[in-house]
Amino acid sequence: VEQRSGEYVVTDDVERIDRDVVFRWLSTESYWATGRTRAAFDRSLEHSVTFSLRHVRAGEERQAGFARVVTDRATFAWLCDVFVLPEHRGHGLGKLLVQATLAHPDLVDMPRWMLGTKDAHGLYAGFGYEPLAHPDRMMAIDRRPPQPADT
Ligand SMILES: CC(C)(COP(=O)(O)OP(=O)(O)OC[C@H]1O[C@@H](n2cnc3c(N)ncnc32)[C@H](O)[C@@H]1OP(=O)(O)O)[C@@H](O)C(=O)NCCC(=O)NCCS
Repeated sequence: VEQRSGEYVVTDDVERIDRDVVFRWLSTESYWATGRTRAAFDRSLEHSVTFSLRHVRAGEERQAGFARVVTDRATFAWLCDVFVLPEHRGHGLGKLLVQATLAHPDLVDMPRWMLGTKDAHGLYAGFGYEPLAHPDRMMAIDRRPPQPADT
């Protein structure tokens, strides 16, 4: 499944992920996955619907961003690991990625979506995400190593 915008394409083809680039960014630059191991990263791809943002120019394609959805494909979907590489930001590609997740044929009828974000609420609000109606009903276990922004 593909979504196109100019020289960019979002694909759910796991073979079209430059794993080294995505892993390096997530494990060293993100504020939420610092310290994730390569084994955990590879395993996460196996068990997610992945959205690889590729920049295609002159027959060559390179990684420009990424997102993935953890889901049972029926009742619940968790959007995570969303990023656009700095040199590609500000051209609507974050929105293209989020839009691609919601439009994916396996996910389009999903009754419940969730995500966590430190500061990109505005990006997701444009697609209907809202703060939790009942945060008091939600609980979590967080065993990740300490993150830089303590998220
Ligand atoms: C967030 C991110 C994916 C946006 O990518 P992008 O391609 O620059 O985004 P777009 O050009 O599609 O625009 C995003 C829209 O969301 C808005 N927005 C809200 N919060 C934002 C934030 N923290 N960062 C960027 N945009 C944000 C922008 O203002 C813009 O709205 P507009 O079109 O009405 O001006 C990118 O900045 C990024 O990778 N950041 C680092 C990783 C990150 O924070 N990921 C999200 C984790 S939840």
